Amino acid sequence: MDKLSKTSLNYLLSEYLEDLKRSGVQDFKRAPRASTPSRLASRPSDSTARPEPVASPPSPSPSAPSRARRDASSPESSVGGDPRVAELRLISEQVAQCSRCAELASNRTQTVFGTGDPHAELVFIGEGPGAEEDLRGEPFVGRSGKLLTDMIEKGMRIPRSSVFICNIVRCRPPGNRNPTGEEATACRPFLDATLKVVAPKYICCLGSIAATNLLGVESSLGRLRGVVHSYGDAKVVCTYHPAYLLRNPSAKKDAWQDLQLLMSEMGLPR
Ligand code: URA
Repeated sequence: MDKLSKTSLNYLLSEYLEDLKRSGVQDFKRAPRASTPSRLASRPSDSTARPEPVASPPSPSPSAPSRARRDASSPESSVGGDPRVAELRLISEQVAQCSRCAELASNRTQTVFGTGDPHAELVFIGEGPGAEEDLRGEPFVGRSGKLLTDMIEKGMRIPRSSVFICNIVRCRPPGNRNPTGEEATACRPFLDATLKVVAPKYICCLGSIAATNLLGVESSLGRLRGVVHSYGDAKVVCTYHPAYLLRNPSAKKDAWQDLQLLMSEMGLPR
């Protein structure tokens, strides 16, 4: 990226952070616990310029609801100048430099920003990277990730590459413990900035950490499931975390119901 575009991207991110401040986040470095934000304001005009897909889906699958496919994690996807790829890369650079959570920053191999289609209509949010994700720098690549891929590709019948996947926190909590509220709050501006760029129509929260943190509620997953919530302009469906499903396979039928709710909201064939 040349100097000029880097400068303008820095300007864009600072604009996002200004927006976050206006919606209640006072200081990027000292963000309070987030509640449901006013919105993810509407996208700038780049939303009309949909780039052609550059990556083929992993398997021959029915057409995805995606607006176009570009993987924010692959460097070549910025060829052609998709502004969302560049914007996400800028946020991921900020994430990589973050050291707000001392314990997480000192224990991580690397940050795990997120991956997928910057134009995805659907974003999955998990809780935080596990051991394998920490090593590989990508979300949901371990056993839970395999199950998530099956949920997306075999269950919903859309390619995993057509969605965007990220987590509430971008560093692995040591020993795979749950992220604390403070850690989730510290990482929240990155989540909000990511969602603002991708501007999904649908969000699927995987597990109660993702659901309660995103929605800013203190409710059980049982109460949050089966209802379509909203987050800004996006419709939100909550389901079990794939790691829970691996430990409790009998809950898979309930998770399938959640996915069917999501699919019917998205207008996908069931
Ligand atoms: N569990 C999560 O919540 N996120 C990951 O990326 C991997 C496992």
